[in-house]
Amino acid sequence: MAKPKVFITRKLPEEVVSPFRNQLDIDMWPEEEKAVPRQTMLEKCKDMDGVVTMLSDKIDEQLLGQAPSLKIVCNLAVGYDNIDLDAAQKHGVTVTNTPDVLTDTTADLTFGLLMATARRLVEANQYIKDGKWNHWSPLLLAGKDIHHKTIGIVGMGRIGEAVAKRATGFEMEILYHNRSRKQDAERNLGATYVEMDELLERSDFVVCMTPLTDETREMFDEQAFRKMKKDAMFINGSRGQTVNEGDLYDALVKGEIAAAGLDVFEKEPIGKDHPLLKLDQVVCLPHIGSASVETRHEMMKLCLDNLDLYFQEKQPKTVVI
Ligand code: GLV
Ligand code: GLV
Repeated sequence: MAKPKVFITRKLPEEVVSPFRNQLDIDMWPEEEKAVPRQTMLEKCKDMDGVVTMLSDKIDEQLLGQAPSLKIVCNLAVGYDNIDLDAAQKHGVTVTNTPDVLTDTTADLTFGLLMATARRLVEANQYIKDGKWNHWSPLLLAGKDIHHKTIGIVGMGRIGEAVAKRATGFEMEILYHNRSRKQDAERNLGATYVEMDELLERSDFVVCMTPLTDETREMFDEQAFRKMKKDAMFINGSRGQTVNEGDLYDALVKGEIAAAGLDVFEKEPIGKDHPLLKLDQVVCLPHIGSASVETRHEMMKLCLDNLDLYFQEKQPKTVVI
């Protein structure tokens, strides 16, 4: 029997890919940094049985409608808002993601971003590198405490819970808002469920960990920022499109909130002229939540395992639909 044809839309390390070459006929995009152009992607998928996608690849009706043999899409991310699930279902295409393997790594980064924002680590680093450290003063680069403050986590999925777990070490009060109550987190981490408005009003750190859906798109807008405390900080470790960036910029400039730490943006990648980059009180990262070498390797391997299992007519490990 011919091996299933699969396309991997970005160059992955050969050490991860090669164990799968016996079972799968793998075509891999040769670029590490550049995404496959849309037109090439459409062409490639026309005769593929499976595809490994990045969160920057759009899998929609147009693509699926032109890919008659495509049976499985394995997204190298826990989020899958880049994939039209209704269209996938209609075309009988299985979709998998990479939950669990990235939970702790992403929570580490998110908490690190919170700390960097609160204690002005990036500004402080720049201050020394710019040769400005020629005196000491009592309030030099003074930031805001983290310990014993209130963290409000919006989206208490696995990663949200792992962020809450880190917050317990800082003896923070933990509030959360989620579609459903998380009894385990309440019991084990002392997290308290609150309505969204109460979370916004009471939190010193509002941390967005919710998946992007029609309900969460631009949930952080002018109204939401106005409800937050003036010295509150907004941290986003999920998806940029949960935020209205123009409203966030205005809230920061007007002093309606104090600072922001952002790992994600409305339209990625952003260039150096993005308005939010001009603000000292904003810490920006290029969507590196799950980017440790170990975890990225785990994610790649999970995608390839899922493909392999599917074509052995076994159940892939982490199916979305
Ligand atoms: C990254 O943002 C992911 O969804 O895994
Ligand atoms: C999914 O959204 C997760 O938090 O793992």
